[in-house]
Amino acid sequence: MKVLLAGGAGYIGTHTCVELIKEGHEVVIADNFSNSCPEAVKRVEEITGKHIPLYEADVCDKDAVDRIFSENNLDAVIHFAGLKAVGESVEKPVEYYRNNIDSTLTLLEAMKKYNVNRFIFSSSATVYGTPISVPLVETMPTGSPTNPYGWTKLMMEQILTDTANANPEMSIVLLRYFNPIGAHESGRIGEDPNGIPNNLMPYITQVAAGRLKQLGVFGDDYPTHDGTGVRDYIHVVDLAKGHVKAIEYSSDHKGTEIFNLGTGTGYSVLDIVKAFIKVNGVDIPYVIKPRRVGDIAECFADATKAKEILGWVAEKNLEDMCYDSWNWQSNNINGYK
Ligand code: NAD
Ligand code: UFG
Repeated sequence: MKVLLAGGAGYIGTHTCVELIKEGHEVVIADNFSNSCPEAVKRVEEITGKHIPLYEADVCDKDAVDRIFSENNLDAVIHFAGLKAVGESVEKPVEYYRNNIDSTLTLLEAMKKYNVNRFIFSSSATVYGTPISVPLVETMPTGSPTNPYGWTKLMMEQILTDTANANPEMSIVLLRYFNPIGAHESGRIGEDPNGIPNNLMPYITQVAAGRLKQLGVFGDDYPTHDGTGVRDYIHVVDLAKGHVKAIEYSSDHKGTEIFNLGTGTGYSVLDIVKAFIKVNGVDIPYVIKPRRVGDIAECFADATKAKEILGWVAEKNLEDMCYDSWNWQSNNINGYK
């Protein structure tokens, strides 16, 4: 199958590219490098031994997207291209709504024109808002996101569902990711955020690398086993494999289907810090700080549906995630730069 990866040069896109090629699929990447760089794609080529057609393009640009569809006989699209920093989305809501929603609409228009009917979307556990209970099941109501980033995901889920309702040929798979961490076992590709990381694991690895002084732990008074926030951390390679399963599933599927991609296990911030120190033998100095606005106490998936329907389960454990995160960062202290 030939798959367009919009935003395929990014963290999850590069790992998915490796797994798709491994399973015999062809990929084409379109990325404007707003949060990535061509070097990441070169490294995927190095890992896979395959040339990857790469378009430096903004997928909100109709003409650029049209050209990609006209030059490639595509079977499916995976849409990773989005701005994703929660805090920044509060400062720059218009940029977030424009980029995330416009990119989705532009891709859908091109798919209609070129009769491409399979779309896999990077959604997020953030659409559940504050969980009414955990683990989170796909049938639970979506909540009220606390930031524009979350709203873009919820709005796009609605846009995509409506699109599938209007076109009986269409397959839409909404993948609700939990918290991806880790990196490819080669240590050649991994997460390389711009500026100071917002997310826990890249912050930890940059403290370990000496780029940051200490970790701030946001709150130790949550109703969790040690008072710090609990999340469902999932190895990015497991997540990538979930996309391969979703692409294969979409060939016989019509309509909209939602899957949680998580492990089903929640770990606290301090569980992660302790596991990282133990697995990698490096120290992570930390200080307790006030709660971060908008954070929830606890969030983890019920991933039964992905197991039963996609035949997918996360296989890697917390030690693998900590080991591979540090393997990437320690071999690339300044990321791809
Ligand atoms: P990332 O920033 O590493 O990758 C996104 C890629 O899209 C980048 O390469 C960026 O340059 C590109 N991009 C953004 N806007 C574009 C546009 N208009 N045209 C072309 N390229 C564009 O992020 P990621 O962690 O790989 O996340 C991928 C997707 O998964 C995003 O949609 C994100 O919202 C979603 N998601 C991520 C997480 C997470 O914790 N990483 C969790 C839930 C959902
Ligand atoms: N945390 C810290 N210190 C930090 C960073 C994070 O203590 O420097 C804590 C947070 O308070 C939270 C946990 O680590 O308890 C995880 O925080 P992240 O920022 O890594 O992840 P979030 O769960 O807040 O959000 C992530 C993505 C969102 C996505 C969501 C889906 O950033 O885009 O997962 O589950 F929507």
